Amino acid sequence: MSDVSPSGAARPHGRGRYGRVSQAVTELDERLGVARGARTFLDKIFPDHWSFMLGEIVLYSFVVLLATGVFLSLYYVPSSTVVTYHGSYLPLDGMPMSQAYASTVDLSFAVRAGLLMRQMHHWAADIFIGSMVVHMARVFFTGAFRKPRELNWTIGVTLLTLAIVNGFLGYSLPDDLVSGTGIRIAYSILLSVPLVGTYLAFWVFGGNFPGTVVLERFFILHVLVVPLVMLGLVGAHLALLVRQKHTQFPGEGRTEENVVGTPMFPVFMAKTTGFLLVVTGVIALLGGFAQINPIWQFGPYEASRISYAVQPDWYMAFLDGALRIFPSWSFHSFGHTIPLEVTIPAVVLPGLLFGLAYAWPALERRVTHDDAIHHLLDRPSARPRRTAAGVAVLALLAMLFVASSTDVIANFFHLSLNTVLWAMRVLVLISPFVAYPIAYAIAREMHALHGAGKRKTPNVVTRSAEGTYEATPAPAFVDDVAEELAPAPVPTFIEEEGPAVAPRPSRGTRAVDR
Ligand code: HEM
Repeated sequence: MSDVSPSGAARPHGRGRYGRVSQAVTELDERLGVARGARTFLDKIFPDHWSFMLGEIVLYSFVVLLATGVFLSLYYVPSSTVVTYHGSYLPLDGMPMSQAYASTVDLSFAVRAGLLMRQMHHWAADIFIGSMVVHMARVFFTGAFRKPRELNWTIGVTLLTLAIVNGFLGYSLPDDLVSGTGIRIAYSILLSVPLVGTYLAFWVFGGNFPGTVVLERFFILHVLVVPLVMLGLVGAHLALLVRQKHTQFPGEGRTEENVVGTPMFPVFMAKTTGFLLVVTGVIALLGGFAQINPIWQFGPYEASRISYAVQPDWYMAFLDGALRIFPSWSFHSFGHTIPLEVTIPAVVLPGLLFGLAYAWPALERRVTHDDAIHHLLDRPSARPRRTAAGVAVLALLAMLFVASSTDVIANFFHLSLNTVLWAMRVLVLISPFVAYPIAYAIAREMHALHGAGKRKTPNVVTRSAEGTYEATPAPAFVDDVAEELAPAPVPTFIEEEGPAVAPRPSRGTRAVDR
């Protein structure tokens, strides 16, 4: 380390070109030997593609969730003890309600920035789970779950499950009429689990519904247990990502043996930090301007009351929709009753869906006999069966989402609820069988167009003076295609396998790795 600054002046002992920063790093390295690892990490190459930013939306909305959640937990009172409200929201003055509901109303109207934090937290939750689903779809449709990333896929599915459960727990904490109804449904779902349901429900609720302890338990699960487990899983998820390196789309100079992209420092770090600010900014704007979950309009929860148009948050709607449209069947035997109208849509269906997600990598490997390592991604059109299967599942979930609004649809179109129920039953049942062949045909057509390396050039048909017709390729199109197919000239670095502290590639050169 030279002790002379570019101006030739002597530097104080140990001060490198970056002054205090490099002195601190040197001190740290002398004690912990961090330089080697840090250099390898900072030299990591990240491939460039918009869809690779989806994981970061998930990550940063999670950060906003945690930060706003800490704020809310300082004011929220997790108690179902009934109090008479005399807070700043006058329309509810004098009403008996749980301390949980009262503290949430106070958070919204009496705590400075309380409503902003509440809304940011709720919007962050919706964006967190929404971007996770899109991230998962990206991983699925491009085959990024294949060997060696099956474990990261499994961690991902677990993260999605935990995120949905924690969303429900958080959604239930204000104890308003809508969320209270949700807790009631959750109690029934637990009860409907064959043989052990009653014990499970009593264990979670500490007795019969509504009990007096469920809000305290949901609170600890929501602010401590589940976030801690998720933080651990996200850490493992990102560690695996760094260890296995990111996949990349096929293109010029990209092989199964290298990564083409931009280095972690400074390019990726600058981009991803900007992205953190953008995600936080968007959530703050939504928190400031778009009202969500106005619990003061729903009123406090009372077990004897229910309202029209009670829908859960969007990520629970598939479950609510399935419960609404399932026929009222039940099974009685050996003195036991299994309420199939709850067990099948709310226990068996999610079990099948998440089970299929967990099993998919192994299933696909079994069907395709493809045991190779994959670092290059598929185009969805190149795997028409996988794409069609994914679209079929999404179609089913989308129809179930619509089915969670049967009462609103019936009311809006002045239809009988029964008509809407039957229409939704038919639509839900046929949706995957309609979506699959359509997606399959589109994927095959797109692959044929792309597989041919060039899309068929449309012809322009002209009629000559003599009345003859002539077909010529459309000039503009040819140019566009050529440009579109050619990989964009991005400043790229190609990482190279070599001694851990290989000379740092200068920004203009290439190195090859994996
Ligand atoms: C808290 C939830 C999650 C966070 C914070 C997260 C974060 C990330 C990030 C930042 C990346 C790298 C950038 C990208 O490819 O988008 C990534 C990659 C990946 N994620 Fe997630 N993710 C989450 C949930 C999931 C889920 C639900 C799945 C699938 C079920 C999944 C599967 C994967 C896989 C397989 C990769 C490697 C992708 C590749 O190399 O192309 N993740 N994740």
